[in-house]
Amino acid sequence: MAPSNASSASTVEESTMPETDLSAVNDILEQHEYDQTELIAILLNVQDALGFLPPPALTHISEQLSVPLTEIYGIATFYTQFRLTPPGRHKFTVCTGTACHVRGAVQVVEEFERRLCICSGETTPDLEYGLETVNCVGACAIGPLVIVDDEYHGEMTTMKVPILLRRLERARAEVSE
Ligand code: FES
Repeated sequence: MAPSNASSASTVEESTMPETDLSAVNDILEQHEYDQTELIAILLNVQDALGFLPPPALTHISEQLSVPLTEIYGIATFYTQFRLTPPGRHKFTVCTGTACHVRGAVQVVEEFERRLCICSGETTPDLEYGLETVNCVGACAIGPLVIVDDEYHGEMTTMKVPILLRRLERARAEVSE
């Protein structure tokens, strides 16, 4: 697993956090026989089941395994695979692999961060947009690459970021009409 370089701060307010299904967490703990040495695998399974690692789930795991909560947060914030905020309804994934990096992927990430007021790895407070980075997805020829949900957008520039965001906002407005 890769260490995280993203901020661990949550931008999502408690009130917008979805309810945590602790029965799913209990099932996973049982599958792993409450084995502390399987903590990382447990966290991965919980994230698969819930979409992220909600604070109540981490507290519950800490209590059930008798592992200090600070240790669990230490792991959850160290690896990029773990997320402490719910995924957004729309996900921007910016490739920062070498080929995309040399063509300006970092500036594209920064533009998303600036416009959405979140850091990579976070979700906007209204849970609408999530931002992530990924290493090479095999489409280097059209980099820098941004994946919006499942749609690939090649040759991305900072100028194209607001266009993408406007398009999604328009679609969102149409749905709510
Ligand atoms: S480095 Fe971005 S797709 Fe390969």
